[in-house]
Amino acid sequence: QEDALTSSKLQGKSVMITAGGTIERIDPVRYITNDSSGKMGFAIAEAARDYGAKVTLIAGQTQVEPPEGVEVIRVESTQDMYDAVMSRFDNMDIIVKAAAVSDYRPAVRADQKIKKTTDRMTIELVKNPDILQELGARKNGQFLIGFAAETHDVAAFAQDKLRRKQCDLLVANDVSRDDAGFGSNNNEVQIYDADGLVESIPLSTKHSIAHRILDIAYERLPLEVD
Ligand code: CTP
Ligand code: CA
Repeated sequence: QEDALTSSKLQGKSVMITAGGTIERIDPVRYITNDSSGKMGFAIAEAARDYGAKVTLIAGQTQVEPPEGVEVIRVESTQDMYDAVMSRFDNMDIIVKAAAVSDYRPAVRADQKIKKTTDRMTIELVKNPDILQELGARKNGQFLIGFAAETHDVAAFAQDKLRRKQCDLLVANDVSRDDAGFGSNNNEVQIYDADGLVESIPLSTKHSIAHRILDIAYERLPLEVD
């Protein structure tokens, strides 16, 4: 058996990973974003690179530097991420959607800085496209790994997302904890497939979780026919 960390099990495979948070502009100096650090997605990109894959990393706002040796495409909004992902989807073997995508964006983006006037103001938001759901609907042979950020009823919501978005695997994490998840170097996740729980990974480094996610994906990839 090969040593997990020196294996080249993904040699010849193209892997696309989205990581970090998206930014939705309100006006030239203000925006809506979230607490995603990008660490989980970057750890997966690094692990895929170490397994010999050709890695494309679609990165939103992040607090850490992306790994060396991968192609990095920087994006800002959900729409930018959607465009970057869709234009590359056909050539990929594995897609991992670790990014924390903004569900809504401001209905209008002001060209000039919004001035302070009334005591109350409202920003109208409209729904963004769901990138993962679109990938699930369009996939033809690609292996799709989604994430779910939940604060309660993690198992039920995660399995519902897996079915709705037609993922091959779904990695669920409880973002209500402060010792894991957003910003942390550690995470505790449950991995689901269409039949239910595949594996529950106790509190571990994002590095080791990244390898485990790719190991499970690798075992399920369609066999090469030559
Ligand atoms: N996702 C996406 N595009 C969106 C929203 C989410 O691709 N517009 C992806 C995320 O990258 C993640 C998965 O869908 O892989 C689940 O995201 P999550 O926010 O947990 O679920 P939602 O479907 O957005 O539902 P909700 O936020 O209401 O729980
Ligand atoms: Ca969401």
